[in-house]
Amino acid sequence: MYRKLIEATKFIEGSIHVKPKVAIVLGSGLGQYADRIKNAITIPFAKIPHFLPTSVEGHEGKLIIGTLAQPNQATTPAVPVAVLQGRLHFYEGHSMDQIVFPTRSLCMLGIDTIVMTNAAGGINPSFREADLILITDHINLMGDNPLRGPNLKELGPRFPDLTEAYSQGCLDAIRAAAARLGMSLREGVYAALSGPTYETPAEVRMLRALGADAVGMSTVPEVIAANHFGVRVTAVSCITNLAAGITSRKLSHSEIVQNAGRSASRLFTLLDEAIPDLVHTTAPENIATAKPSAPAAGATA
Ligand code: HPA
Repeated sequence: MYRKLIEATKFIEGSIHVKPKVAIVLGSGLGQYADRIKNAITIPFAKIPHFLPTSVEGHEGKLIIGTLAQPNQATTPAVPVAVLQGRLHFYEGHSMDQIVFPTRSLCMLGIDTIVMTNAAGGINPSFREADLILITDHINLMGDNPLRGPNLKELGPRFPDLTEAYSQGCLDAIRAAAARLGMSLREGVYAALSGPTYETPAEVRMLRALGADAVGMSTVPEVIAANHFGVRVTAVSCITNLAAGITSRKLSHSEIVQNAGRSASRLFTLLDEAIPDLVHTTAPENIATAKPSAPAAGATA
């Protein structure tokens, strides 16, 4: 696996002209953020060695690398970013290793922060459709973990600490960005389930009792892999629906993708405002040692 990561990372390095500092993973219905990237190089996942194509409607499957135009371009330097337009999901049948492969490649490219976005169902009774939620913590109920199995020490330690899985510095930067914009930003704990079924109303009641504010089928594997590598993580959910049983409305994927599109412009404004400050917050402490140019002795693909 490590050798495959090195091959993918080298391929990406050979295709780009800026070294990204921040990666952004775009969830269902949020892919249009990639249109804001200037001087963009677009690489379909299918062209990158060992990247798998995505199969879900609303997920494009492209890596876009370039710079993010700043709202105050004159005073702030453009931020070099890598955008994953589309992601792989556990419910598609992929292994956790496959799901986190693009994230790990970007970690090995040298990013220091990753911004996850997703569509989620609202569990907290005060949440409304189209709310933006800053994820402060998660509950992994997927029944698997990308770090299960032998630990590749080049990617990080055996037992990573997740006390601050969502970087405090990034949380503060995003809160401050929302305040400057006068934008309402809620906060909460994200529970990740495997899907692909939406939850039953009884499961939603259970999740609420467990302390979850929102529920979805993504994000947590990548958050774990990035934390393992020592890359700082932050994540924002768009509440596309109230979770099952909170209203009598039935859930449909196409409606959820459409609803994500409705919160998208506010989310994009927030990301534009916050991302320059994510670069400027202090560097992560324990960046793992992996470099695409330094294959591990005895690493096997
Ligand atoms: N449940 C799980 N995943 C989701 C939901 C939901 O209600 N909405 C968007 N993604």
